[in-house]
Amino acid sequence: GDAPVKDAVPQAGKDGLLLLRRVGTTDPGSLDDYRANGGYTALRRAFELGPAGVIREVLESGLVGRGGAAFPTGRKWDATARQPDHPHYLVCNADESEPGTFKDRVIMEGDPYALVEAMTIAAYATGCAKGYLYIRGEYPRATARLQHAIATARSRGLLGENILGKGLSFDIELRRGAGAYICGEETAIFNSIEGQRGEPRSKPPFPVEKGLFGKPTVVNNVETLVNVLPILERGAQAYAAAEPKLFCVSGAVERPGVYELTFGATLRELVELAGTTGTTRAVLLGGAAGAFVTDLDIPLTFEGTRNAGATLGSGVVLVIDDTVDMKRLLLRIAEFFRDESCGQCVPCRVGTVRQEEALHRLSSRVDQDDLVLLREVGQTMRDASICGLGQTAWNAVESAIDRLGVFK
Ligand code: NAI
Ligand code: SF4
Repeated sequence: GDAPVKDAVPQAGKDGLLLLRRVGTTDPGSLDDYRANGGYTALRRAFELGPAGVIREVLESGLVGRGGAAFPTGRKWDATARQPDHPHYLVCNADESEPGTFKDRVIMEGDPYALVEAMTIAAYATGCAKGYLYIRGEYPRATARLQHAIATARSRGLLGENILGKGLSFDIELRRGAGAYICGEETAIFNSIEGQRGEPRSKPPFPVEKGLFGKPTVVNNVETLVNVLPILERGAQAYAAAEPKLFCVSGAVERPGVYELTFGATLRELVELAGTTGTTRAVLLGGAAGAFVTDLDIPLTFEGTRNAGATLGSGVVLVIDDTVDMKRLLLRIAEFFRDESCGQCVPCRVGTVRQEEALHRLSSRVDQDDLVLLREVGQTMRDASICGLGQTAWNAVESAIDRLGVFK
């Protein structure tokens, strides 16, 4: 039915909330409330630093992308700012679609002006006069709150011409996705905004050189962008000393939700914070595109999870206890990838179908030939697919077979 959805309340680790400090405590519909709680101090600081100074701070902070791939944000900004070809575009990737990911939603619903301010700073630093906020169609409340925030900021001189009298011209256009997972892939977003089919383009060229409408484009995830606010408010070094990261905890825990921790906590600390409901058998890190891990003592950092043969990805922590039917879960993941493959390249279009078929057969009868086939198909998808969807479609299945002994 139309029962009202409750606002999500973020959970804090031992260092409290920084990134999400306004969520649930300030009125997301009020620009005055935002300003009374620290809003727009970072933009003022950005004007003091100048565009090159802002990029220097972001580089120095060590911030890497929070969408999943952890590319250094400062390098992306610097590369775009240097491009002689104009105009430059900014795209905020708010098409949060990785299964188990809901952190950007909490930011956008609870602190929409923070994203508007952060986009304005990114545009100032990289020389973009126009920004697109590409939001998934299934987020109507976040969309409404952002629409309101954008319109209010515009009416108060914080978007549009000559922002805060500093000569900066920048505006944001909101675009809604239409339910396709692949439209969160950055180059598929370009095609979608340009009115074409939402299919990924081959990279290189990278968007920083040739992106939206063939022009230099910065693409950043929502969480990545809002990190720029504390970087400028506190200074790069202070920020880096206690760098915040959001985690989306779900599955067999007592308190699922978005958790803000500083880097350095272990997976066990996070799972215990969320409260286990039984025997934790494994954790799916990084969502459907990620991998199962069984060692809870790994540090929750991009490097730590990589060393454990997994990925922090978009911060998904899906806890599996011994009541979960793993075969059913793997089949569901395979079904998802088969459904969401855009069909543009053969390894992924065919591979995701073959993977699902083999898992279907294996769920009723374990056959070594099917296990060999799965591995061959998986490796081909990983090596030969055009984009991340096909390249990662076998990760979770492979890790479940190798680490959890599913189908043994
Ligand atoms: P990627 O590694 O190809 O690129 C990451 C970013 O760095 C991109 O913006 C890319 O343009 C940029 N980049 C890479 N090399 C560059 C270079 N030499 N110069 C300039 N820029 C460069 O990864 P991709 O395909 O963008 O993202 C994959 C990740 O997305 C996976 O880790 C997956 O977990 C995550 N993902 C997240 C979802 C979500 O809802 N948040 C949904 C699906 C996937
Ligand atoms: Fe499309 Fe899959 Fe190829 Fe990506 S890997 S372009 S989703 S068919």
